[in-house]
Amino acid sequence: MIGIDAISLYTPRYMLKLEELAKSRGIDPAKYTVGLGQFAMSIMPPAEDIVTMAASAALPLIKDRKPPSLLLFATESGVDHSKAAGIWVHKLLNLPSSCRVLEIKQACYSATGALQLAIPYVKANPTEEVLIIASDNARYGIGTAGEPTQGCGAAAFIVKANPHLIAIEEGSGLFTDHVMDFWRPNHLDTALVDGKYSARIYLTALEACWKEYAAKTGRSFEDHARFCYHLPFSKMAEKAHERLSKHANTHDLVAHSLLYTKEIGNSYSASLYFGLASLLENDKEDLSNKRIGLFSYGSGCVAEFFSGIVQPSYRKTLRQDAHQTLFSARKEISCPEYEAYFRECGNQNKEEFDPSECQTGAFRLAGIQKYIRDYQPLA
Ligand code: COA
Repeated sequence: MIGIDAISLYTPRYMLKLEELAKSRGIDPAKYTVGLGQFAMSIMPPAEDIVTMAASAALPLIKDRKPPSLLLFATESGVDHSKAAGIWVHKLLNLPSSCRVLEIKQACYSATGALQLAIPYVKANPTEEVLIIASDNARYGIGTAGEPTQGCGAAAFIVKANPHLIAIEEGSGLFTDHVMDFWRPNHLDTALVDGKYSARIYLTALEACWKEYAAKTGRSFEDHARFCYHLPFSKMAEKAHERLSKHANTHDLVAHSLLYTKEIGNSYSASLYFGLASLLENDKEDLSNKRIGLFSYGSGCVAEFFSGIVQPSYRKTLRQDAHQTLFSARKEISCPEYEAYFRECGNQNKEEFDPSECQTGAFRLAGIQKYIRDYQPLA
């Protein structure tokens, strides 16, 4: 039995309410809150990026446990074409030099790809543990249609034998196809997206994955106690769930997985794992020994439907107090303040960068000189 032992989430200290964004854009707020199902989005300040978020998410997980022998960093917001972002995290967390580090990319699917590759690794090395960190900054651009579906965050999780949280089952359904629904050319710091086309492909991929998963495992919809979907915005998961269930009144099976994303926004590769943590930390029902269906979608595209069995000890490893304190302590900022941070973060790939004063988590991007990024722990 191999799976996820614990999950830790991190998101930056600033947020913008979507009502405020709607007012500034002259749009009915209900379009965002009802049409997209989103209430707020976390805003990246200039002294944070995918590395600081990843290290802050992973820090509580690596305390009091043996160090991982493999660190897989899943992202589509890479800060270097060559050097893996995980190397900086490896340094910030003082991981041993014997720990292998790799960056994995396939849009929002990458963390699930990392998980599926970690499982046979642990099978072959049953006493070893893998640290997977998904960390992303969803940037579409000021005034674009994608603007209300931005957000940022990191999810770190440990994959090991005899996990305390959820054991991943064998048998999944996959769907890969060359589609241009969402992409980010190397020189751009914002994504290009055909959002409506992407939503259609997401649903096509879901149906194909489910068909293969059901044929391989012999399971039906009713064999799953809850479902978690990739969350570009929460309404997308509701549409996906409607498509899969073909039943009315199954909203309860997905509702708790949406709570964190409604407040954080899209976190790309991390979003499915924000959904899983949100479900396990907020659903009052005891989910021990229950099966969760998980759907991961990464534009471009690769998608996978897979499943896991919640472990009897799962509640002991949850971090809901830390997560909810972190989310509710975020500072609400105005639309002009968000725009200023957005523009400043656009300079994080310049030769020289000196971030303005802002709050961070346990680590900060202290600056960039001659294209060399300097990260520091908070004193
Ligand atoms: N009150 C309530 N609902 C409203 C509304 C109002 N005043 N005005 C619009 N809506 C609804 C629309 O009916 C629509 O719902 P539906 O899709 O169920 O019909 C929803 O709000 C969005 O409106 P729409 O006009 O489709 O929005 P848009 O063209 O501005 O863009 C996205 C929405 C999601 C396509 C856009 O934000 C986007 O591209 N985001 C990126 C998401 C993505 O593709 N990520 C990567 C793939 S996973």
